[in-house]
Amino acid sequence: MRQKIVAGNWKMNNDMAETEMFLVGLKKQVLPEGVTIMIAPAFTNLNHTFQSVREHPVTVVAQNMHQSENGAFTGEVSAGMLKSVGVKTVILGHSERRSLFKEDNDVLAEKVNTALAHDMEVIFCIGEELSHRETDDHFTLIEEQLEEGLFHLSEVSWKNIIIAYEPVWAIGTGETATPDQAQEMHAFIRKTIAEKYSNSIANKVSILYGGSVKPKNAKEIFAQKDVDGGLVGGASLDVESFMAIANAFKK
Ligand code: PGA
Repeated sequence: MRQKIVAGNWKMNNDMAETEMFLVGLKKQVLPEGVTIMIAPAFTNLNHTFQSVREHPVTVVAQNMHQSENGAFTGEVSAGMLKSVGVKTVILGHSERRSLFKEDNDVLAEKVNTALAHDMEVIFCIGEELSHRETDDHFTLIEEQLEEGLFHLSEVSWKNIIIAYEPVWAIGTGETATPDQAQEMHAFIRKTIAEKYSNSIANKVSILYGGSVKPKNAKEIFAQKDVDGGLVGGASLDVESFMAIANAFKK
């Protein structure tokens, strides 16, 4: 069975006090069984968060990292640095990194390689802009992001890969892909992986949906056959709504 995951991507939100407040609230919750809960705080709060949830089944995730081991890269953080504070999972290729920080598929492929060389787990984000959907180019674009970002990997590397499909037009906009649109694209992603590798690999990869996931729509989206959870931005900042989403898997 594929891993079910609900991951909170806090982006540039929650300072130290707010992070602590969230963690106090989170630790009071009964976490749903069979769902991996992940949170991705700011770099400055990763160490504290990791220490704070040590005894809890919560995975602490970084939102990004640099592809080099170390060196003159002012403002950047390496895989080794993340691992040294206990972080073993990283989000790569988020659409905000792609569009605002000009990260292209080539640099993302390098980042993936570095993360895997450190035996880290990668949540690799892909997703089309509205313009691609309007011109019916969304499948081609997704295929290209998979090919250029991930399809150089060996079969064994796929055990460390999680995919997040996040249509850019649905991120932070309140507009969500319909459950059918999400299922259609998730099935396409799985089929594309199966054609390149094998059914066995494709059927083991968790594919998360991201883009305005909220307590009110999570259940229907997560009920789709090829949707294995969510990467949640805005609604992950509040413990109650994040937990409501994590509990959306329950029958
Ligand atoms: P959103 O963000 O849930 O606020 O739309 C999702 C994401 O960017 O990962």
